[in-house]
Amino acid sequence: MKLINKLWMLVLLMVPAMAFASETLHLDAAPGSLSDKASLQRGAQFFVANCLACHSAAYMRYNRLADIGMSDEEIRKLLPEGGKPGSTMKAAMDSETAKAAFGAAPPDMSVEVRARGADWVYTYLRSFYVDTERSSGVNNLLFPLVAMPNILGTLQGDQALEVVKHEGGHEVQTLKLTSPGSMSPKEFDATVGDLVNFLDFMSEPAKLVRYKLGYIVLGFLFILLILAYLLKKEFWKDIH
Ligand code: HEC
Repeated sequence: MKLINKLWMLVLLMVPAMAFASETLHLDAAPGSLSDKASLQRGAQFFVANCLACHSAAYMRYNRLADIGMSDEEIRKLLPEGGKPGSTMKAAMDSETAKAAFGAAPPDMSVEVRARGADWVYTYLRSFYVDTERSSGVNNLLFPLVAMPNILGTLQGDQALEVVKHEGGHEVQTLKLTSPGSMSPKEFDATVGDLVNFLDFMSEPAKLVRYKLGYIVLGFLFILLILAYLLKKEFWKDIH
């Protein structure tokens, strides 16, 4: 067989595998935008209030929150007792204690979005479901047997796992809200969206600067284009 045919065979063999992979790992798109400062600020506040109990963000200093438009006063309100604006975000619980309590250490959140992707984190936080066979009482569709308790359960409500059988016998697992939480599904998705937006900012604070730089470079090129055009006209003026 010619090499090109062999390569084609290989590609065709990979198609079912790819289809399968995308089906088991369906991710919802995280709605956040890094240019939305209000969303980033809501996310920062939510992160400090709900996640810092267990997860650190060792590369993030509180005073960097000024980059997303928070005032000194707003930043001071988020500090733990005895914390300074220049301190990094440290978990309240140390990682050994957390490991003993939950069975796994809560990983640092500084670069979580860069490691997993925003869509993954957004989907993960909304994919907890009731599982009475586990000591935590919950499981996660995206992260089976996860050690993290469903700390957003009171906001989201309880979800149950449902297996939907499609024609041809293949089964799809989905989640269904069985008892509502204190937020509507829309509010909850928006809140998690803000949170993931902030985690994204934290993963790469320089992204905001880079975006700005991009516009400056484009503006510069545009001015250069106009100058080059005027210069060309000037050069060819006497020839025609
Ligand atoms: C009560 C402690 C606790 C709190 C509070 C908590 N988590 Fe976790 N989290 C954990 C533990 C423990 C794990 C490790 C799970 C494992 O490895 O099975 C984890 C895992 C994760 C992961 C998956 C990490 C990975 O890539 O493997 C993400 C993302 C995450 N947590 C985000 C959050 C966010 C965001 C918040 C705040 C809304 C939060 N967690 C609050 C304990 C906690």
